[in-house]
Amino acid sequence: MGTTPVTVTVTGASGQIAYGLLFRIAGGAMLGRDAPIRLRLLEIPAAVASLEGVAMELEDGAYPLLSSIDITDDPKVAFEGANIALLVGARPRTKGMERSDLLAANGAIFTDHGSAINAVSDDDVKVLVVGNPANTNALIAMNNAPDVPRSRFTALTRLDHNRAIAQLAKKTGAAAADIERVAIWGNHSNTQYPDLFHATVAGRPALEVVDDPDWLEHDFIPTVQERGTAIIKARGASSAASAANGAINHVRDWVRGTDGSNWVSMAVCSDGSYSVPEGLISSFPVTCTDGEYTIVPGLDIAEFSQQRISASVAELEHERAAVEELGFVKPR
Ligand code: NAD
Ligand code: LMR
Repeated sequence: MGTTPVTVTVTGASGQIAYGLLFRIAGGAMLGRDAPIRLRLLEIPAAVASLEGVAMELEDGAYPLLSSIDITDDPKVAFEGANIALLVGARPRTKGMERSDLLAANGAIFTDHGSAINAVSDDDVKVLVVGNPANTNALIAMNNAPDVPRSRFTALTRLDHNRAIAQLAKKTGAAAADIERVAIWGNHSNTQYPDLFHATVAGRPALEVVDDPDWLEHDFIPTVQERGTAIIKARGASSAASAANGAINHVRDWVRGTDGSNWVSMAVCSDGSYSVPEGLISSFPVTCTDGEYTIVPGLDIAEFSQQRISASVAELEHERAAVEELGFVKPR
């Protein structure tokens, strides 16, 4: 990446995921130890004071790669010259809020952030949406940034991908590093489909190693689908450090490339692959080279998998229809 600092914009920068994210970014975990970084941090006005504290802590890390930190409550300032934009800030669901209220609150935020990215970010900007509902928030931002290629808008399902690897490692006794070609399809929600049909454990087909269809259907799939909820129940707050880790993995692999024959999962704008309607932000297995991702082509999809992928994609279509109706995305 050379010595010109990379501008990394993080929204929701005084929140809990950002607290797991910013110090690792400053230390080089996301873009490497040869990439100096300018951080541009966005918060709502009420959280700027607390963000100032986070910025003091970043300063106190004396990170050699951290060339500057800017704090703002103005998206046009935050996204100025952004090369990487991590959209973490979102309105959480609170008591008495219906799902449509959540879509409406987040629709306004991601319309605003998409327009600002369109207006002031760098030509090479890469966007990762973490804030929920992540796929549909990314869809809204993408549709409000008509001058930015659609391939630059992605949403986080790497946390789900990592959760799937962890569950398979636990079941087989293998190391996470020995597991390849796990895939997450669809939405970052409990309809997502974690797919082991192509996965390998130390080079052997994972489903042969496991040899337990009941575990796959009644343990593995629901455990991965419900993991976010289980963490909220246990911790009293949603996953933060693991979400930050997933976000770092996602951007690192997108920018620096995936390893050898392995692949990762990213929610990206569908080109119609695997019958996912064009234009939806849906999770696929991808490989990355030279800063571009490619959806893994030509996989055989078993009927068992197809039914589950279709159910999650139907949910995404439903969400798209809702935000079209609310006016955040132009009807097709
Ligand atoms: P948090 O409430 O601790 O922090 C969110 C921050 O966003 C808050 O500080 C808030 O002030 C800020 N914010 C709200 N609106 C904003 C706006 N318009 N501009 C800038 N900042 C704004 O929440 P968190 O735990 O950090 O989680 C953030 C989001 O990530 C949530 O939506 C959560 O559901 C989601 N999440 C996604 C995944 C995933 O895998 N995709 C995993 C975990 C959590
Ligand atoms: C997660 O997967 O941990 C979160 O997206 C859960 C949530 O609803 O915030």
